Amino acid sequence: MPHPDTIAVHGGEPTLDRKDAPVTPDISVGSASGYPDLASLDVAMAEHRGYGRWGTENHRQLQAAVAGLEANGLDTRLDAVAVGSGMAAIAIALMSEMNAGDHVVAAHDCYGTTLTFLRNDLSRFGITTTIVDFQDLEAVRHAVTDRTRVLLCEMCTNPLIRVPDLLALATIAHDAGALLMVDNTVPTPVLCQPFKWGADAVIYSATKNLSGHADVIGGLVVGKPSWTDGARAFAQTFGPTLGPFDAWLTLRGIRTLAIRMARHTANALALARFLERHPAISRVHYPELESSPFCARARQLVPDGAGALLSFELEGGRAALDRMIGRLKLVRLMPSLGNVATTLSHPASTSHRGLTADERGRAGISDGLVRCSVGLEHPDDIVAEFESALRN
Ligand SMILES: Cc1ncc(COP(=O)(O)O)c(C=O)c1O
Repeated sequence: MPHPDTIAVHGGEPTLDRKDAPVTPDISVGSASGYPDLASLDVAMAEHRGYGRWGTENHRQLQAAVAGLEANGLDTRLDAVAVGSGMAAIAIALMSEMNAGDHVVAAHDCYGTTLTFLRNDLSRFGITTTIVDFQDLEAVRHAVTDRTRVLLCEMCTNPLIRVPDLLALATIAHDAGALLMVDNTVPTPVLCQPFKWGADAVIYSATKNLSGHADVIGGLVVGKPSWTDGARAFAQTFGPTLGPFDAWLTLRGIRTLAIRMARHTANALALARFLERHPAISRVHYPELESSPFCARARQLVPDGAGALLSFELEGGRAALDRMIGRLKLVRLMPSLGNVATTLSHPASTSHRGLTADERGRAGISDGLVRCSVGLEHPDDIVAEFESALRN
């Protein structure tokens, strides 16, 4: 069985099907293919090939690489559908599965726009949602109804990096005849394979670590072919197509995914350990820290590391945070994550700005909480950057 590093480097490789075929895939920018006769046109249309909205060779290569990483070592065949953003992946996964009258149980710490989509958009089509804390399995069980089709949560949640008990959640979902869908954007398939723990569908924002260089907006859904056939048919009709150049860039990013995630994780742990000891910091959230309530579960579900994301709180609240940000030289503030460079985000101003101060308090999001997506710089330089910015 190849290692994820090897699958990342070779997955979806184009075949050497012509003389002097380049080792790097071509980018198919044509919106349609041409055919010499009616019979070949007929075959292409029946197979949904030859029209850009249905995907090009670049999409097929990317899909093969992600499905290969996801299925690595598992006794199951998986398939992936590439779409135009992480939100498109969430919409396709949910909408291809559900009908009016159906019900979703979603984790309260899902990405804010995922919750907005469920609450404000899917509700208009007769799909209802109950939002609960997925750490409270009794609350999840209680929320399930006979119309529940989907349990939806994230792995290594944003911004408190909580690790859900996927195995227990899969059991609750399956007992109810529902699917467990996991947004695995933060750990990526090289650090976590949710199918191993019973998930039925996995969702990615390829915008983040999967592409990895902050130059793509993209997404994927992954599942068994019997499920992705429906998701693909819906995506091809609905039309949130990923651009071929973005598919190409994402695949190129995946070539270094395994080594990037290993370095992201090592750097995140080094920074988390430094911050945990610093007197100006009141709390650090990173599941690999022995002090984290999620440490034991992280060792089981993400044994090679929990990814690039951590968060921390400053003793001095928002004012101290503002001062620290003003002193940073390399690290920038940006409303995203998963870049090669270390970046910061402020959940109260970005992902959670739609909540009231009370709601934010209940979700554990204080004004002094800052989320850090730890990059690939030398760990000593990252620590030195924060050491100097936190100096009195
Ligand atoms: C965990 C997670 N899922 C999904 C999304 C949405 O992805 P996109 O911005 O690519 O639509 C995000 C965006 O931040 C995210 O953090």
